[in-house]
Amino acid sequence: MATSSAEQRSEGAGLAQGPPRSLPCGAHRRRTKRAPILAAVRPVLHSLGMEVFSTTRFVVRQWQGDEQDARACFAIYSNEAVSRWLERPPYRALDQARAANLRQLERYTRLVGMGWWPITTRVDGEVIGQAALMPMDDEPGEVELGYHVRHDWWGRGVATEVARGAIAHARANLAGYRVVAVTRPHNTGSRRVMEKAGLLYEGATVFKGLESVKYGLP
Ligand SMILES: CC(C)(COP(=O)(O)OP(=O)(O)OC[C@H]1O[C@@H](n2cnc3c(N)ncnc32)[C@H](O)[C@@H]1OP(=O)(O)O)[C@@H](O)C(=O)NCCC(=O)NCCS
Repeated sequence: MATSSAEQRSEGAGLAQGPPRSLPCGAHRRRTKRAPILAAVRPVLHSLGMEVFSTTRFVVRQWQGDEQDARACFAIYSNEAVSRWLERPPYRALDQARAANLRQLERYTRLVGMGWWPITTRVDGEVIGQAALMPMDDEPGEVELGYHVRHDWWGRGVATEVARGAIAHARANLAGYRVVAVTRPHNTGSRRVMEKAGLLYEGATVFKGLESVKYGLP
């Protein structure tokens, strides 16, 4: 998978410097910052083809289908506030998250440049939400932008930053597709994210049987 983002940057430089050769006897190597560790891991993730795109604070990658990802997915969707906006009951069992991750993995292998992907922090790789670019039903030239943020991360600009990164990824990798987004009219937070990411209001619509509003890139 190609990697792209206007905000993308290389952090491989942390590797070049390397650790000090030796420490004085009895001295403990103290870790003051965690970022350099991820800086070392990021090129590995990238070379394995797991990173989809990145932004200043976040790396959006593929799901791996392992137990850690299942627990992270469960933490997002077992929350009442998140699931209320998605108009479905919160996850009650880890198996629901395991099944969801496998579905996303299957989609990722089937859809080129599209899918639902975990949003991870650049600092320590923690999964804090999910972002998507998915084909729009019945609209062959459109790709739908999606974002779900874990409740304890709301209000910190995650969705806006990742939405902008996803749009940059689509521009670079999904030629011939126009980015659109759909939400329920009263989902003020989601609508604001769309506006801040540069999408324009296109009007009311019915989406998956629900009264909705549609936004899109001009
Ligand atoms: C909607 C959602 C993705 C927003 O994520 P977030 O990371 O908190 O959003 P941001 O921090 O980037 O906020 C973007 C803007 O929306 C505003 N906003 C966020 N949540 C809001 C809310 N509940 N009500 C009103 N405004 C809200 C913010 O104030 C900010 O605007 P500002 O910069 O003008 O102040 C998050 O609340 C969520 O995951 N909701 C559940 C899932 C969902 O509804 N997804 C969208 C489905 S279409």
